[in-house]
Amino acid sequence: MKKDLQQREHWSTRLGFILAAAGSAVGLGNIWRFPYVTGTQGGAAFLLIYLIAIILIGYPVMVTEMTMGKVTQRNPVGAFKKLAEDTSWYLVGGLGVLTGFVILSFYSVVAGWSLHYMVESITGLAAGADYEALFGEHISSVGLPIFYHAIFMFMTAAVIAAGVVKGIQKAVKTLMPILFVLLVILIFRSVTLEGAAEGLSFYLAPDFGEVGIGTLNDAIGQAFFTLSLGMGAIITYGSYLSKDENIGDNAAWVVGLDTLIAIMAGFAIFPAVFALGLDPATGPGLTFVTLPAVFSEMPLGSFFGFVFFVMLSISALTSSISLLEVVVAWIVDEHNWARKKAAIFMGVVIFLTGIPPVLGYGPWDGFEFFGMDILDTYDFFADSIFLPLGGLLTAVFAGHVYTARKLRDKANEVEGKIFVGDWFDPLIKYVVPIAIAVIISVNLYTVFIG
Ligand code: PHE
Repeated sequence: MKKDLQQREHWSTRLGFILAAAGSAVGLGNIWRFPYVTGTQGGAAFLLIYLIAIILIGYPVMVTEMTMGKVTQRNPVGAFKKLAEDTSWYLVGGLGVLTGFVILSFYSVVAGWSLHYMVESITGLAAGADYEALFGEHISSVGLPIFYHAIFMFMTAAVIAAGVVKGIQKAVKTLMPILFVLLVILIFRSVTLEGAAEGLSFYLAPDFGEVGIGTLNDAIGQAFFTLSLGMGAIITYGSYLSKDENIGDNAAWVVGLDTLIAIMAGFAIFPAVFALGLDPATGPGLTFVTLPAVFSEMPLGSFFGFVFFVMLSISALTSSISLLEVVVAWIVDEHNWARKKAAIFMGVVIFLTGIPPVLGYGPWDGFEFFGMDILDTYDFFADSIFLPLGGLLTAVFAGHVYTARKLRDKANEVEGKIFVGDWFDPLIKYVVPIAIAVIISVNLYTVFIG
C-alpha cells in the first residue's frame, strides 16, 4: 500500500490541477448544450435558475468529490473502498466508471462532428446553403463520422497514455489558454455585429413564461454534467492532488471557471444568432445547424467558423481525457494494469462502443427506445439516470455515512481563503439528495410514462 502511494503521480503545480479540472468541466456541455438549453428555456430565466443550482448543488458536490479523491489518493472505486471498508459502497465508484465509459463513447462521436465542421469551415461555408440538410447528411453517413470519432478517441487515448503530468497537465496548460482566447475573439465578433443587441437582451432579460418543472430539471442536470460531477472524474483528478492543497479554493476556481466559460459561450452565440435573424430555440441543432448558417453569412465567416469549431473541439478533448482517465485509473489502481496498455485497450473498446450511436443515424435508424435513437438512448441513461444517481449516492454517502462533518474537516485540513463551514452540512445531507431524487423521478416519468 505504502509503496503504491509513493508511486502515484501528482499535479506538479496548483494551476495544472485547476486547469485540468476546469478542462474536464468545460466541454460540449458549456458550448454546445448550455446555449441550446438556455435558448429553449427562456434565456436569462434559465440562466438564473442554473446559477442557483450551481451554487447550492454543484459547489458542495465538487467539494465532496475533490476531498474524497485527495484523502484517498485513489480512483472512484478505490476511494469508496478506502473510506468505507468492507461495505458495498465501492459499487457507487463502479457506477461512475461505467458512466464515464458510456458518456465517452457518444461524447467522442459528437466531438467528431465538431472536427468535421472544423475542416468544413476551412473549405468554406456557403451562404444560403441548407445547413439542416447538410448536418443530416453528415450524421447519416457512416465513413466520415466513424473516421472523426476514431481520430478523436486516438487523441484522447494518446494524452492519457502519456500520464498525469506529461499527458493531461501538459495538454490542458496549452489548450485551455487557447480556448479562452478563441472564445474572447468570438464574443468580440458576435457582439459587434449589427443587430446583436436583441440577442443580448434575450440572454440577459429573464422570461419566466417558459419556466416549469422541466426547467428546474434541466438546470440541475446541466449543473452535474457541466461540472463533471456524479461519476468520479473529480474524485480521480482530486486523487492526484498533493496533501498540502486546500479544497474550498480549488473547488471554487473550477466551478467559477466553468460557469464563466458557459456564460461567455452564450455571449458568443446569441448576439450572432439574433443579428442574422435566426431562431435561438432550435435545440441540439443550434451548434451544428444554426451556427454554420450564422458563420456563412458573416464577413470572414470561414475564419470565425474555423475558430469556433477549433474551440469546441478543444473543449471536448480536455473533457474526454478526464472521462477516459476515470476508466484507466480504475484498471491501473485496482487491477494493476500498466497505464499505456489500459489507455490503448480502453480507447479501442470505447471507440467500438461508440459505433452503434453513429449507425443509429444511418443504417440503423429504425432503432428506437421509447422514441429515442441510439445516441439519445446512451445519453439518456448516462446523463439523466447514471450521473444524477451517482451524485445522489455520493451525497448520501458523504453526508450520512462518512458524515458531512468529517468530510468538511478533511476539506479544511489545509487552510485556504474559502472555509467550508457548517452551511455545507444541510446542503450535502438534504438539499442535494432531494433535488436529485426529484430530477431522476421526473426523467424516468417523462421517458417511460409521460
Ligand atoms: N463536463 C463536461 C462537459 O461539460 C462533460 C463531462 C461530464 C466530463 C462528466 C467528464 C465527466 O462537456
